[in-house]
Amino acid sequence: MTAQLNARGDVAVLVPAAGAGLRLGPGGPKALRLLAGEPLLVHAVRRVAAAESVRLIVVAAPPAEVDAVRELLASVAPVTVVAGGVERQESVAAALAAVPKEIEIVLVHDAARALTPPSLVEAVAAAVRGGLPAVIPVLPVVDTIKEVGPDAVVLGTVDRSALRSVQTPQGFRHDVLAAAHDAGLDPHTDDAGMVEKSGIAVTCVPGSELAMKITRPLDLVLAEALLRIP
Ligand code: CTP
Ligand code: MG
Repeated sequence: MTAQLNARGDVAVLVPAAGAGLRLGPGGPKALRLLAGEPLLVHAVRRVAAAESVRLIVVAAPPAEVDAVRELLASVAPVTVVAGGVERQESVAAALAAVPKEIEIVLVHDAARALTPPSLVEAVAAAVRGGLPAVIPVLPVVDTIKEVGPDAVVLGTVDRSALRSVQTPQGFRHDVLAAAHDAGLDPHTDDAGMVEKSGIAVTCVPGSELAMKITRPLDLVLAEALLRIP
């Protein structure tokens, strides 16, 4: 059944989905790879569309797949599909260009975080709505982290208590994200990193194990298992 979006919602979600998925191995663009019989992008968009304050979803598709993605998602939710770029930031910029000014909150999500629950989308949006200019969902780092020199010799052990691993959706006031993009793209950082550079505070909220990024083949196995949790 096709989801309805909230015409009175105040949130646009950008879903960059134009990556090649090189680390997942051969098999075409990652967003179109199957998880439990459905493309990752379908899983991701379905969950975003179920978040109650979402009014607009913009997907950045692999340029050769724009029509196919439009068709694929037609029965999932009403989405705008644009052609993505060579770098993720270019895909985000292309999607951002499709968001009308009057939508005040913009979330940037990865299609590869296909199992992200609607509640996380709402939590990030609510934090921005509550007055924060930029919000990221994070988890504590569980492994011990070492700084290592070029000769494989350990230089030191990093204090893990101050570290977080960062997920998406990352949420922004529309004007804040637009200004960061206008200031110039940096392929070496995430959306929040661009905003940090403009001197604006980025605030953490609790992330979700379900928002794991599907990157390597093992992640697909883990995601299949997560889907079986009732
Ligand atoms: N992405 C995008 N446009 C790009 C590169 C990435 O829209 N030029 C998207 C991916 O489709 C994914 C998200 O950004 O949903 C996170 O990127 P990543 O997990 O790195 O995906 P890929 O770039 O596809 O994977 P890889 O780096 O292994 O090739
Ligand atoms: Mg990539």
